[in-house]
Amino acid sequence: MRIMITGATSGIGHSLALSYVNQGHDVIACGRSQPKLDALMEQLPSHATITPLCFDLTDYHNYPSLENQEPIDLLILNAGDCEYIDDPLNFDAQMFERIINVNLISIGYALQAWLKHLKPGGRLVLVSSSASLLPLPRAEAYGASKAGLSYLGKTLSVTLTQHNINVTLVHPGFVETPLTDRNTFTMPMLISSEQATHRIIKGIEQGKADISFPRKFIFIMKCLRFIPTSLWQKLATRMG
Ligand SMILES: NC(=O)c1ccc[n+]([C@@H]2O[C@H](COP(=O)([O-])OP(=O)(O)OC[C@H]3O[C@@H](n4cnc5c(N)ncnc54)[C@H](OP(=O)(O)O)[C@@H]3O)[C@@H](O)[C@H]2O)c1
Repeated sequence: MRIMITGATSGIGHSLALSYVNQGHDVIACGRSQPKLDALMEQLPSHATITPLCFDLTDYHNYPSLENQEPIDLLILNAGDCEYIDDPLNFDAQMFERIINVNLISIGYALQAWLKHLKPGGRLVLVSSSASLLPLPRAEAYGASKAGLSYLGKTLSVTLTQHNINVTLVHPGFVETPLTDRNTFTMPMLISSEQATHRIIKGIEQGKADISFPRKFIFIMKCLRFIPTSLWQKLATRMG
């Protein structure tokens, strides 16, 4: 398969790129840091190759073109970032914009640039977050971006069917990566990026429309959606 992955220089995307290349697939690895892409290339087994593409996803008009290239089977839009709102009264609009831009607006530009280069029967994978399931403290920006992304993915899974393109939404719980290394709070049911990669690759192989994990964590999050708002406000305030 020919597979394009954004955010392949770190965490989940890095682990996905290495796993797919080790399985013998042809991987296009996107990142915004050339030294990190070089480091990824150095980790490859001798027989394997990756096509590295260096660009910033918020530089919307300079995405690499896939024109005149072999079409891709799998497009994994995984890159993302997280920052927290510590003082909602003094709302940091610039930070809000940064997170919405990289986690949501860039997806629109990526779809514009690359969706038509997916093979018929190909698959679009959007890496959202379990944070989209519940209003979590300090996650006003991150949660809003991921809730928007999940809505977008669910809609595309309906509208792209007639174009013979499959859509998979990924909702991870806490995964140990450089992104979560920055968190100072306890992360329940934290899993490794290799475990997350295993779940994602298996789910894609099975043609799943939704890959959510760890199962127990997602089950608890989904149950909490049914409790009264006033009770959730009390619980969530204690978490923050
Ligand atoms: N880790 C978790 O617990 C968790 C849970 C739920 C969802 N997710 C989602 O999973 C995805 C991957 O997260 P991760 O934990 O693997 O994070 P990570 O280790 O920080 O990796 C994020 C990747 O995205 C890239 N990226 C960020 N901003 C970019 C930009 N403007 N242009 C191009 N590339 C950019 C990063 O590039 P650099 O290497 O240059 O920084 C990196 O390769 C994200 O969408 C995240 O929201 C993660």
